[in-house]
Amino acid sequence: MISLKKVAIIGAGTMGQGIAQWFAEQDASEVFLVDQSETFTEKARDQLIKVWDKLIEKKKINSSDKEKFLKKIKLATNSTLPKDVDLVIEAIIENLEIKQQLFSDLETKLGASTVFATNTSSFSVAAIAKNLSEARKKQFLGLHFFNPASLMKLVEVIVGPETGHDLAQEFVDYFKQRSKNPVLCKDSPGFIVNRVARGYYGESLQILKNYDQDKIKEIDLILKEVGGFKMGPFELMDLIGIDINLSVTESVWNQFYQAPRFTPHQIQRQLVNAGKFGKKTKKGFYSYE
Ligand code: NAI
Repeated sequence: MISLKKVAIIGAGTMGQGIAQWFAEQDASEVFLVDQSETFTEKARDQLIKVWDKLIEKKKINSSDKEKFLKKIKLATNSTLPKDVDLVIEAIIENLEIKQQLFSDLETKLGASTVFATNTSSFSVAAIAKNLSEARKKQFLGLHFFNPASLMKLVEVIVGPETGHDLAQEFVDYFKQRSKNPVLCKDSPGFIVNRVARGYYGESLQILKNYDQDKIKEIDLILKEVGGFKMGPFELMDLIGIDINLSVTESVWNQFYQAPRFTPHQIQRQLVNAGKFGKKTKKGFYSYE
């Protein structure tokens, strides 16, 4: 049985924060939240404090739980991360070259027993691990959490061609024992959820054609009320981050040799160019001022 006492999450953005929160709430003893500078990690810790305060208000945890969880959170940068972490999960921007570079750097710094994982939404696990040693590739897999990571039960456990099969199974067992629903996935573009979800966003954007606030609300409402989805496609893109969602769409589209059904939409590009990334920038399809 795998033991994850010291866990590092690289990238303290939307996903990194949620994954760090979840591990701090489990039996890990130290959870390193890592980003390029302390400005990012300090902001992420403040955000975690707010999340745990809200859970106290809702009587889901008490203040001693919050103190216990918070004590486990250690802030670090790529250069101050300790060598002996059991698991490192990468949750940085969805860019293949930058992810490859990060893992090459990590391989020179971290001990041989550390398991490497990526939270990529769309890239091939094998491509991300391309420059690593053969031994490390066996210790490399995808752990794709969903947003918000502390609440969403599904975790796609992505098995690259060189991932040790026992390792993937150990993660499945680990998550099952901690109330997540892990699913083993092949290393294919978008895995399961993000491949299927392209249609949810893409078709809705096709219907929308041009930016129109009333139409956005209408499409979201119909998909929730009639389709039974928890969130409409535009609300969901705002939650995910339109920048991240566009990168994922482009990545899946390119990996399917630019198949028309995965074509990104102009509106996504226009919003990204305007810095409107959704909730995290307070403007996207909706406004959050
Ligand atoms: P984000 O933009 O909110 O956060 C990314 C963080 O990574 C930023 O704080 C940035 O400063 C940091 N970063 C960038 N390059 C770095 C580097 N070289 N070293 C250390 N830190 C670095 O992004 P988000 O949404 O958290 O996504 C992260 C990853 O998770 C992406 O691969 C994305 O596809 C995936 N993902 C995103 C989901 C979502 O709903 N947003 C859901 C599931 C997966």
